[in-house]
Amino acid sequence: MFNEMHWGKKNRMGEIIQPDGRALMLAIDHGYFMGPTRGMEVPSEALAPLLDHADSLMLSPGILGSSVPTSFKGGVVLRASGGNSILDEDMSNEAVILSARQAVNLNASGVAISIYVGAENQHQTLLNLAQTIEDASEYGLPVLGVTAVGKEMKEKSAAKRFLALSCRIAAELGADIVKTYYCEGFEEVVTKTPVPIVIAGGPKLDTYEDILNLCHNALERGAIGVDMGRNIWQSEHPAAIIQGVRGIVHGGLSVKEALDLVNSLADDSTRRKQYFAAHPDDAKVQEKH
Ligand code: 5RP
Repeated sequence: MFNEMHWGKKNRMGEIIQPDGRALMLAIDHGYFMGPTRGMEVPSEALAPLLDHADSLMLSPGILGSSVPTSFKGGVVLRASGGNSILDEDMSNEAVILSARQAVNLNASGVAISIYVGAENQHQTLLNLAQTIEDASEYGLPVLGVTAVGKEMKEKSAAKRFLALSCRIAAELGADIVKTYYCEGFEEVVTKTPVPIVIAGGPKLDTYEDILNLCHNALERGAIGVDMGRNIWQSEHPAAIIQGVRGIVHGGLSVKEALDLVNSLADDSTRRKQYFAAHPDDAKVQEKH
């Protein structure tokens, strides 16, 4: 897939995309604009039971430094765009917050930049991606383009066109991997995007079966894996569902087989520790992101 790359970049890509061509990225970068997101209030504790099951982590530099043991052997994709918050009316007001040099200094496998196509600050966010791709090329550092979705994708029926547009723009600017959302007609989004695609999980789904179906459908329609957050660590049994997702991404399990696995692992030992009651405003936050 990436034979033409030089050794450094190929090696780093290999920390994200595994030899089977698949990727299980665990997204925990939400705090960069959402603060102490439910389920990730104490990152070191929420992460500990998950680290062995993720190929790579996608996170902010601050959480890497404070909450991930240096013994972690998986890949690390650092969030490199930010400067906004969930309190902003328009969340697209992002700038580059991490240079490729700083990322390499933190031993990163790659960096992630969000683009907000159709949003007020579309132009700036596309320049953020282009600028980081140029910066990262000096260091052989892969770049993940993240197609952020705001009010621009209000209509579910318009999702395919919007996501195909956003993913293709990220690929045209030179992103090595694109992270986007699953939608109806997803195979068209994949076909029109000439680089590997991973899917986000999006807001918390109701059941484990829904989560596993989402993963299975996305892979069947051409995604190479997932970069999933809330549907793992906001679940009742995060260490159980991540192993089910892993079974689908790397183990070729059917949804039923993966669900059986999750159910067999869902007990008190894998139950998520609840620190605080959910705040009523959490639901509003989910609507915005
Ligand atoms: C923000 C992100 C998040 O990491 C992303 O949405 C993935 O997490 P989730 O599976 O919770 O949607 O990239 O733009």
